[in-house]
Amino acid sequence: MSHTKTQPVFLLGLGGVGRALARQIVAARASHLRRHGLRLEVVGVADSRGLVHAAQGFTDQTLLELIEWKERGGRFEQAAWPAWPSNCIVVDTTAAESSVPLLLNVLQSGGGVVLANKLPLAGELSWFDAISAGRARWETTVGAAMPVIQTLNYLLDSGDEVIRIEGALSGTLGFIAAQMERGLPFGEAVRQAKQRGYTEPDPRQDLSGKDAARKALILARMLGYRLNLDDVQIESLYPPEMEPLTVGDFLREVDALNEPMRRRADELTRDGRALRYAAVIEAGVCRVGLIGAEPNSKLARVAASDSVVVFTTRHYQDNPLAISGRGAGQEVTASGVLGDIVSLAREINQPRSAFTNS
Ligand SMILES: NC(=O)c1ccc[n+]([C@@H]2O[C@H](COP(=O)([O-])OP(=O)(O)OC[C@H]3O[C@@H](n4cnc5c(N)ncnc54)[C@H](OP(=O)(O)O)[C@@H]3O)[C@@H](O)[C@H]2O)c1
Repeated sequence: MSHTKTQPVFLLGLGGVGRALARQIVAARASHLRRHGLRLEVVGVADSRGLVHAAQGFTDQTLLELIEWKERGGRFEQAAWPAWPSNCIVVDTTAAESSVPLLLNVLQSGGGVVLANKLPLAGELSWFDAISAGRARWETTVGAAMPVIQTLNYLLDSGDEVIRIEGALSGTLGFIAAQMERGLPFGEAVRQAKQRGYTEPDPRQDLSGKDAARKALILARMLGYRLNLDDVQIESLYPPEMEPLTVGDFLREVDALNEPMRRRADELTRDGRALRYAAVIEAGVCRVGLIGAEPNSKLARVAASDSVVVFTTRHYQDNPLAISGRGAGQEVTASGVLGDIVSLAREINQPRSAFTNS
């Protein structure tokens, strides 16, 4: 390749996903150069407290040292946001809404954004509108690196009509459903999920269904549904009375839910149906909750702890289009973010065609 295109990148968030991403950027350098003549130049990194930047980009050694330092619990010093190049790609791997003004600013000044963070797209509709109309990618917000967003965009661009989307989008709730299918009481399934590190530190964050609802909302909004999170029908797997409990008390008292949850599971799994916690988006309505998936349906055939998204469209009606696989994990999510960065960098660095110039 004749000359190398350098793409400035700023990383917001150096948690599990952000750190894995930084390492993968370094590891993929030779491949990016060979395939696209592209070099991703990390010009800054930020955590919840502060940031470090280098106008000319960090050397790989400095970048890896910063990552190791964060891994050991380091915190960046507060600093003013630098003026970054107008073609910069800002990558949001935080789990905060506070990044939104910055992201909108970057888009307005001609830069690009890549998000693993769902909150900006599942927050105010105006944020979704601005991000989705700009130079943006958000593949990993739904099903980690599985090509769910790409596929939906492709279906919509191809003029196909999306009739229904169903998705099992929470590995944690999938694990709990799988354990219950095996006959384990609900409380025991929740404690096992927590012991194995599948849940957030407070398992109620998973059991509330809110995270799955945000993913469903992003898909629904892409279909053109003008919905907010309040409009999503969400089945929480614990009652509001258990909200004030400490995590420890909740884990002790969760067994009180064994009986009602067993009855609900039995009802849903009659006739060989499979218990899934799924999103269903159809006819302007978006809901997430427990369902009994038809035996042999695509939702039932995938292991409950994997993620799956099934698109029923005009062209894929008798045999709906399904994407399934590992829908969570820091390394695989980081790889999806990296794929998004490269895709956006290629768009940004493309010479403008005679067609668009005319
Ligand atoms: N893990 C997965 O399987 C997965 C899959 C798909 C999507 N995601 C999404 O990816 C994102 C990152 O996940 P994670 O597991 O890496 O989370 P994490 O380990 O909690 O890391 C979050 C990082 O964001 C930083 N941060 C928080 N607020 C910030 C702000 N206002 N400005 C700049 N940085 C800020 C934190 O700073 P400190 O270091 O100072 O705390 C931390 O470095 C989340 O939105 C998550 O939902 C994760």
